[in-house]
Amino acid sequence: MENTAYDFGMIGLGVMGSNFLLNMADKGYKVIGFDLDDAKAKKLENEATPGTTVKGVTTLGAMVQQLDKPRRIMMLVPAGKPVDSVIQSLLPLIEKDDVIIDGGNSHYTDTLRRVKELEPKGIHFMGMGVSGGEEGARRGPSIMPGGDLAAWKRVQPMLEAVSAKVDGTPCVAYMGKDAAGHYVKMVHNGIEYAIMQLISEAYDMMKRVLDMNNDELASTFKTWNEAELQSYLIEITASIFLKNDDVTGKRLVDVISDKAGSKGTGKWTSQDAMELPVAVPTIDTAVALRTLSGYKDERVNASELYQPAIKEIKKGTEADIKKIKDALYFSTIICYAQGLAMLNKASAELNMDIPLSDVVKIWRGGCIIRSSLLEIFYKAYIKDKSLSNILLNKNIARLIKKTEKNARAVTKLALQSKIPVTALSSSIGYFDAYCSANMPTNLIQAQRDFFGAHTYQRIDMEGIFHTKWD
Ligand code: 6PG
Repeated sequence: MENTAYDFGMIGLGVMGSNFLLNMADKGYKVIGFDLDDAKAKKLENEATPGTTVKGVTTLGAMVQQLDKPRRIMMLVPAGKPVDSVIQSLLPLIEKDDVIIDGGNSHYTDTLRRVKELEPKGIHFMGMGVSGGEEGARRGPSIMPGGDLAAWKRVQPMLEAVSAKVDGTPCVAYMGKDAAGHYVKMVHNGIEYAIMQLISEAYDMMKRVLDMNNDELASTFKTWNEAELQSYLIEITASIFLKNDDVTGKRLVDVISDKAGSKGTGKWTSQDAMELPVAVPTIDTAVALRTLSGYKDERVNASELYQPAIKEIKKGTEADIKKIKDALYFSTIICYAQGLAMLNKASAELNMDIPLSDVVKIWRGGCIIRSSLLEIFYKAYIKDKSLSNILLNKNIARLIKKTEKNARAVTKLALQSKIPVTALSSSIGYFDAYCSANMPTNLIQAQRDFFGAHTYQRIDMEGIFHTKWD
């Protein structure tokens, strides 16, 4: 077995790295994984499906020298300095035309730097988003590779083999030049944050205003997952409400702290949207509310000071629940619209040529934000690949018009009941502003010119104007 030439190498045999490699081995490829931790190298081999070719080694050189050339090496290590140090360790061992793939959640600007640093050495560096967590890596993730086309062609068959499939179509496609792959993954995570925030707001309304218990919540989300709100996040939410805590015997969700964590990818989305600029207020709100969830002590003090008592609690009726479903459907579409509009703008600004129809096509399966809505978005982009915002697609407009009224009704009830529906209300605000042929920002222009002589344009003639207002 020592002289086996392996097809694909993985650096980092954590949960994601080893599962991705085992998945690839199951598809008939000869794979070799490196980790400094001998136990992980051994675990990889022990977990291999009998009859597949899987090897685990504890020196980088042992992996590199046993790879078929030009080599295909992927790394799944923490973002930041670890990626750079892996590259530095690899450089003396690899050769021109080798492909190095970073499959972690690296910031796209780091990926862009690495692509440019390695290009002169003839090394093809690819930033690649991998979505779907541990289960996805093992059974089929959604994969978002970017970089140079030659490198993509070299790894395309393997990535198509390991990716999730929808109607037999692989959930992987070339995402565009340079750091496009990591850019798409970053926006995927921004949309993920926003949808998770919206689901939490629907949960809050049904629990605290409609007085629904965990069993009722579970069956409601399960029912929603069987219709137009079908998605991975809705599906797992239904299961979460049924899980019992081994320690207390209570439902686990009721004993989990409300201080939410985040590794930062949603924040990056908001930061970069500001730079572009593109308006993604619902994603911004989701990031902000995760931050606010960390201010627990202040929130407890404020709740005692202001007693935001819930105005009325009445057992939820089917009609009430249907309104919340519509509100969630409406605002979820708005989240995707904001994220996809951001990708459209970033692709042009950063010259990445991101194929939006392929982005939504590969998000249909394997990734955290997979949902039945993505098929609808895919059809919208096939109809018009230069669509700047999916809200301009007539079929999507029909879905929005069908659910808009209940989205407003739920927001009104929440405001009267003092339930924070920050993401839901921001999605309505974005929608109303996006649909405003005339915004009140003419007054802001007048104010800016009044106090700062920042000038303004007029609607009735060309030119730049300033007025002495006082
Ligand atoms: C995915 C997930 C994955 C990660 C989350 C966690 O696509 O599989 O998005 O990348 O688990 O991004 O991110 P936060 O800790 O920021 O919520």
